[in-house]
Amino acid sequence: ITKYVPFPPVSLPDRQWPNRTITRAPVWCSVDLRDGNQALAQPMSVAEKLEFFEMLAHTIGFKEIEVGFPSASQIEFDFCRRLIDENRIPDDVAIQVLCQCREELITRSLEAIRGAKNVIFHLYNSTSPKQREYVFNNASRDQVKSIAINATRFLKQHAQPLVAGGMNLSLEYSPESFTSTELDFALEVCEAVTDVWQPTPENKIILNLPATVEYATPNVHADQIEWMCRHLTRRDLSIVSLHTHNDRGTGVAATELALLAGADRVEGTLFGNGERTGNLDIMNVALNMYSHGIDPRLDFSRINSIRETYERCTRMEVPPRHPYAGELVFTAFSGSHQDAIKKSMPHQHPGKPWDVLYLPIDPADLGRNYKAIIRINSQSGKGGVAYVLETDYGYQLPKLMHKEIGKLINDIADAKGTELSPEEILAAFEDEYLKRD
Ligand code: KIV
Ligand code: ZN
Repeated sequence: ITKYVPFPPVSLPDRQWPNRTITRAPVWCSVDLRDGNQALAQPMSVAEKLEFFEMLAHTIGFKEIEVGFPSASQIEFDFCRRLIDENRIPDDVAIQVLCQCREELITRSLEAIRGAKNVIFHLYNSTSPKQREYVFNNASRDQVKSIAINATRFLKQHAQPLVAGGMNLSLEYSPESFTSTELDFALEVCEAVTDVWQPTPENKIILNLPATVEYATPNVHADQIEWMCRHLTRRDLSIVSLHTHNDRGTGVAATELALLAGADRVEGTLFGNGERTGNLDIMNVALNMYSHGIDPRLDFSRINSIRETYERCTRMEVPPRHPYAGELVFTAFSGSHQDAIKKSMPHQHPGKPWDVLYLPIDPADLGRNYKAIIRINSQSGKGGVAYVLETDYGYQLPKLMHKEIGKLINDIADAKGTELSPEEILAAFEDEYLKRD
């Protein structure tokens, strides 16, 4: 994407800076319909999940979608079956199903996915010392490792008929609570699972390393991921996957740094829906890449309708200052900002990459409107008023008039105590100048 240039625009004189940058999009996996859905006060109905799935696959273009935990409830099972039985899964999309390392749940999940073309079977068990102590009654490391090994062995054996029938089946393994687990132990479990599964270059194993709860700063998380990337013996046959949550409010930063540290794949949700403070906001990371000229291979050009579907299906609200999608993110209230935006608009500088001050991204790329950029209140400068009159109504006012008109509108906004709409600005302008005699 040549419209945008990577940041920073200047280099340091004495060293290469930055020493790493993100240069291509990772593999994305949406976990909206599982991690996101399980965290809703009122989980989505099957009809809502079907609509959401359509949006993830067709509007945005996810190629990997975790559709649920089919062994956990009938509704999850039925949803999975409907996707498959009604041929709703595009040929180039893999559905992912989550499953604990328990034989009866694996068996039930295999029933749920029968007939699907591309499936990622996602096994997980928790590995941290606290989980071993409190949840698994002081289970030893070996006992916890065996849970993962036995489940992988069971899955491999019992999935055989599906694979023989033509299903492309991959394994994802998550040592849940990875970031609170001793690194050598996390590595040991991942290696053991890899040994049992026997991945190939055509069918690599996905090793998902979750920050189930975000406890550390993003650099510590990135160091943990980098250590794993360096020590996995079959790194060439593994896809290292990130799954950050947002307890410290740094899920996006943690994911970005961990991509720089060597990860290949990212799990997350739209608008960061998910347990507690949420999962990683995938849209945020993807559009951060886009604004640096990297094709994220996800399409957010219809962000308003994505947001509308999300809000209706989840009954959650997108905050007005949400990066990229929030109601207010393409508005400028301050006069000096309005003036700078006007002066740096692309039509003033043809042929240059996007360089508009205060707007890191062109709202039009997300299907949003330039007209919403400038809103006038008592803080606005003279340039903003002239801009609205010109762009919305075609009045090209001589520069000498800008100050006077700016003052007129500011006085009205002051008296009113709220911002003025473009229609109110037009009315005030025409009252003052066009009906004078
Ligand atoms: O946050 C987490 O650890 C999870 C796992 C099930 C991957 O959601
Ligand atoms: Zn999670």
